[in-house]
Amino acid sequence: MANIAVLGAQWGDEGKGKIVDLYGERADLIVRYQGGNNAGHTLVVGGEKTVLHLIPSGVLHPGKTCVIASGVVLDPEVFLREVEALTARGLISESRGTRVWVSERTQVIMPYHKLIDRLREESGGKAKIGTTVRGIGPCYEDKVARRGVMVGDLMDSDLLRDKIEAAIREKNAVLAALYNHEPLVVEELHAWALEMGKKLKPMVRDTRVLIQEAIAAGNTILFEGAQGTLLDVEHGTYPFVTSSNTITGGIFTGCGIGPKSLDRIIGISKAYTTRVGGGPFPTELDNDLGEWIRKQGQEFGATTGRPRRCGWLDLVALKYAVEVNGLTGIALMKADVLSGLEELKVCVAYEVDGARRNTIPSNIRELERVKPVYESLKGWKTLPDRPKTFGEMPDAFRAYVGYIERTLGIPVVTISTGPGREQTLNR
Ligand code: GDP
Ligand code: IMO
Ligand code: MG
Repeated sequence: MANIAVLGAQWGDEGKGKIVDLYGERADLIVRYQGGNNAGHTLVVGGEKTVLHLIPSGVLHPGKTCVIASGVVLDPEVFLREVEALTARGLISESRGTRVWVSERTQVIMPYHKLIDRLREESGGKAKIGTTVRGIGPCYEDKVARRGVMVGDLMDSDLLRDKIEAAIREKNAVLAALYNHEPLVVEELHAWALEMGKKLKPMVRDTRVLIQEAIAAGNTILFEGAQGTLLDVEHGTYPFVTSSNTITGGIFTGCGIGPKSLDRIIGISKAYTTRVGGGPFPTELDNDLGEWIRKQGQEFGATTGRPRRCGWLDLVALKYAVEVNGLTGIALMKADVLSGLEELKVCVAYEVDGARRNTIPSNIRELERVKPVYESLKGWKTLPDRPKTFGEMPDAFRAYVGYIERTLGIPVVTISTGPGREQTLNR
């Protein structure tokens, strides 16, 4: 198998966990390269549900090496808890051949990152993004501001103290002035960070070298994206985005490898669209139908439990995802959720201030004014639960898939008809 990237082609929660678990069976290494525990990736195997926030979704298969590369932001406590829970279930063990590695360059989500994320969100107003409040944004801010703490720093007491001191100087001023919050104490943070370093140490290494060696040895690597294309900090619906590069480019910076190491790039998309948190969503159905989709699809956040906003499939956004990621194929998820609807709509263009356009406006106010131009397609009554061939799918469903493929110019390579591993058709 070639090296594959699996990433979100919409606003996140497309079903990446399920597909990484599925494709992961044939991979040697599974790598998370950006984001943090803002992600919630759901896997359903043998009827049992597992939600992973940091550990790559290949971990349920034996014999896998799971890597958290340098582009990720790591909450040590969440990570250690996840390792512990999977170890208790016997899923991470030496006898299964499972290894979990964290890059020494991975940025650490410090307690003050979570605090600032929360205080900002609570202060409300126009600045509210509807984040997952996991400290993701403030941690990436410190990384780019060159005052972040890397996982490797947690094992160097002097360096660590200096970094924390430097990092909290401005923070204490802001905390006092804007939030009337007591100052952070270097000693407390230092002791906490050293403790985390001690616990993480056996799992820390230079993962760039590990990945490079795997490439040289011809091993198969699966890159697991988090969030989705429209949440990319540069190419998403800015400022209602996350703080990392969620697109294909994030793999190269987040792992330290070149683009030639990637053979296939699979964009995950639902047969409709969802979004959780604030920000424009052109095809949103803020009505009974949207509510119906939410119920059918059980569209509630895997990380925060918030109800997800639901709407029709947005082919303008999806075509954009094909371009910015260089997608080679689509995995179409949750097709079963739309079963029973007589008519389906897909958005084929945007209308802004009377003008038609086929790409995403960069101006957030313009994006808020977008009116979707729809094409109507026929719905289907039911789908086979465990389809074996595309031919056995209802005509209307095959027409829906055909329409998507013609519009995007790439094939739908995987179709998912339920949360379980076996409810999948690979074409
Ligand atoms: P991720 O963040 O992209 O991994 O996606 P989430 O796990 O947050 O959300 C996807 C949800 O849809 C999970 O609850 C999955 O179990 C579920 N799911 C995945 N594929 C399908 C499908 O084809 N049909 C249905 N009904 N549910 C699915
Ligand atoms: P997975 O990997 C859906 C959204 C948040 C918010 C915005 C910024 O499960 O698809 P952040 O906490 O990252 O600063 O929040 O991004 N968001 C997600 N939405 N799926 C996710 O991850 C998300 N991770 C962040 O709701 O709107
Ligand atoms: Mg999710």
